[in-house]
Amino acid sequence: QFDPTDDLHRPLVHFTPREKWMNDPNGMVFHNGTYHLFYQYYPDSTVWGPMHWGHATSKDLVHWQHQPIALYPDSLGYIFSGSAVIDEKNTTGFGRNGTPAMVAIFTHHDPKGESAGRNDYQNQSLAYSLDEGKTWTKYAGNPVLKNPGIKDFRDPKVMWYEPGNKWIMTLATLDRITFYSSPDLKQWKKESEFGKEVGAHGGVWECPDLFQLNYNGKNIWVLIVNLNPGGPNGGSATQYFLGDFDGKAFKPFSTETKWLDYGPDEYAGVTWSNTGKRKIFLGWMSNWQYATVVPTLRWRSAMTVPRDLGIQKIGESYYITSNPVPELNVLAEKPVVLNNIQAGNFDLTEKTGLVNGPSMIQLKAAQIGDLSIELSNEIGQKLIVGFDQQSNMYFIDRRESGKVEFEKGFAARHTAPRLSTKQDMDMTLVIDNASIELFADGGTSVMTAIYFPGNIYSRIKLQSPGNLRLESLEFKRLRSIY
Ligand code: FRU
Repeated sequence: QFDPTDDLHRPLVHFTPREKWMNDPNGMVFHNGTYHLFYQYYPDSTVWGPMHWGHATSKDLVHWQHQPIALYPDSLGYIFSGSAVIDEKNTTGFGRNGTPAMVAIFTHHDPKGESAGRNDYQNQSLAYSLDEGKTWTKYAGNPVLKNPGIKDFRDPKVMWYEPGNKWIMTLATLDRITFYSSPDLKQWKKESEFGKEVGAHGGVWECPDLFQLNYNGKNIWVLIVNLNPGGPNGGSATQYFLGDFDGKAFKPFSTETKWLDYGPDEYAGVTWSNTGKRKIFLGWMSNWQYATVVPTLRWRSAMTVPRDLGIQKIGESYYITSNPVPELNVLAEKPVVLNNIQAGNFDLTEKTGLVNGPSMIQLKAAQIGDLSIELSNEIGQKLIVGFDQQSNMYFIDRRESGKVEFEKGFAARHTAPRLSTKQDMDMTLVIDNASIELFADGGTSVMTAIYFPGNIYSRIKLQSPGNLRLESLEFKRLRSIY
């Protein structure tokens, strides 16, 4: 029997595998009222190994049902990251009696080819399901897109491009994105490349995504590119570009490097397919720099909370906003609402009682000023999140957060620039037993960090050297999803 309390660091409002190793979210697709989450999974160990696609489903993006493993490694290799679509027009011919196929497009990673020193060991393949992702058939003609000799050739994200009546595959190809098109998901034609000269290149490009977001009635194309290493706070992170896509090529509005989440612990994030105009993003809540050594017991890694994406214009530039999905509120207990408080030295725990579990805090200040929010336990461990006005940076300081010695870079104070130029400021925090997610200024500055306290944090204190006045602070305890 599964017992979430067997591990102090088991997140209670985030998705985790019951046991063993998980990394990237894969094949996220919404169909018939169900959100599907597949994920990189190794069922035999708590470290990375021959990859499978694990599977979970949810009706509300909050409570997840674990499902049997969807895809197992085979003679063509491990099942690496990829996406899933609903083939409504039956372009593949996989559909039966009007039931459209759910089609997974993934990378086959051939470890034998790799150890033989070949360059073409990553190829793109298909599998399909006619029973809502329960059972899968691998396509007999795999691979459908053969490697031309580029070692890193993976993580296909596929979308239907209506104006061209064709599928578009966005593929990570070492240091750039290559776009392919197809009428039927089986034959692929190269359309263009993007990115060799722009964006961050401190590591390899992985797990891309391409979709549109609406801004004031105008559709803007978003290209997400995950990068490992080379993130703004070290290790792996998610960058993005905004621009135009004409069915063949992507043209960015600017060459500025932008980060969807500046924190150390959001990676491989992409969006759900088939959700219409709404775009929901989910990331792996870890970092390749230390993911395999974090001190959890029977399982490794969680996902972030699902986040709604939007666009905001600041000056002449557009930026992505991300905010926790409102569905998270199904877990909220009655809020404690405080108005007009001085944050100088304010013990929130006096108003809320000991916290001892997940919570959400939303605060608004009419001015900008220094502010620290400190989570702590009775054994002197603490996590501090806040804003530093002089440097104009949000920060998460986990140097004294608990267990940190498992990796030398883990104990750090991480920062994210404040992009907003507004004269007021707002912060939303999603706090779980082993993670914090900060969404500031409408979601334009976002940070995610994990931590491993020796005891759950029970106190929350605010501090502000300038005695910043908060117009409002709302605190909600979040019920466990178990
Ligand atoms: C990103 C990644 C992907 C790859 C997968 C393997 O975290 O390296 O590029 O498909 O993980 O598990």
